[in-house]
Amino acid sequence: MKWKEKTVVVTGASSGIGRAVAVELAKRGASVVLAARRAAELDAVDQLCRAAGGAATTVVTDVRDPAACKRLIESAGRVDVLINNAGFAIFDAIEQARPDELESMMQTNYFGAVWCTQAVLPQMLARREGTIVNVASIAGIMGYARMGGYCATKFAMIGFSEALRSEVAGRGVRVAIVCPGTTETEFFVKAERGKMPGASRLILGVSAERVARVVCKSAEDGRYRRIVPWPAAAYMRLKEIFPRVAHFFMRRVSGLMEKE
Ligand SMILES: NC(=O)c1ccc[n+]([C@@H]2O[C@H](COP(=O)([O-])OP(=O)(O)OC[C@H]3O[C@@H](n4cnc5c(N)ncnc54)[C@H](OP(=O)(O)O)[C@@H]3O)[C@@H](O)[C@H]2O)c1
Repeated sequence: MKWKEKTVVVTGASSGIGRAVAVELAKRGASVVLAARRAAELDAVDQLCRAAGGAATTVVTDVRDPAACKRLIESAGRVDVLINNAGFAIFDAIEQARPDELESMMQTNYFGAVWCTQAVLPQMLARREGTIVNVASIAGIMGYARMGGYCATKFAMIGFSEALRSEVAGRGVRVAIVCPGTTETEFFVKAERGKMPGASRLILGVSAERVARVVCKSAEDGRYRRIVPWPAAAYMRLKEIFPRVAHFFMRRVSGLMEKE
């Protein structure tokens, strides 16, 4: 892909995976449009992108608001690639989960991606060109104890992506999902209210930069699904083929970790 001629909108660009994706794209010469709620953090990423050699602009956006997502896409102009990455988690047992937090996770992680996709699709379909990369999670393939509210948002995102992929097939628009395992970002600072669920510690954390390179690869070749790192990919394959074995093993090991 000739990144120098491309405009990429990245949501959740103020930290973690989104920030790393923006910088990686800037290094490749793309124009990046950075979206998130925190203006100061976005400005800092803007500086990083410019220093890396790309053009950057910031648009303060709360993806829970459909009108804000529409404004974001309008202000970006021609969008070649949309990366739906904004998201957060609060880990809680279902019996304790707060309704407002469950709703906010769904509004951000799932509906945020839906609103941005709806805003960008008409121009991509009209040009018969464009790529949408959704940053999902291994928590969208397998349900983990004390992560139910979050898992639901990522299962929703994957179902939506799969349906959209079929809808736009043959019309020039590509849809891809990237499912990271544990990634070292601010995510866990917000997600952990007590002890981190054992399950999420099972797979060694990877860097945001590594996930960012995978996201860029998917934006380039449009491959539908990538799971990173490879042990997580292998475990997800086991879950899909032998779900009872995968859940049995995960519960046992998770249970031991929770006892620590
Ligand atoms: N870290 C992991 O282990 C992991 C694993 C699998 C998948 N993921 C997924 O990767 C994505 C990025 O997470 P991360 O690990 O990079 O965490 P992070 O460092 O906490 O970054 C989350 C980003 O989402 C933005 N965001 C949150 N709510 C928003 C809203 N309402 N509107 C706009 N932006 C919003 C945040 O910006 P503001 O606060 O400035 O709005 C921030 O830029 C998420 O979708 C997450 O579910 C993470």
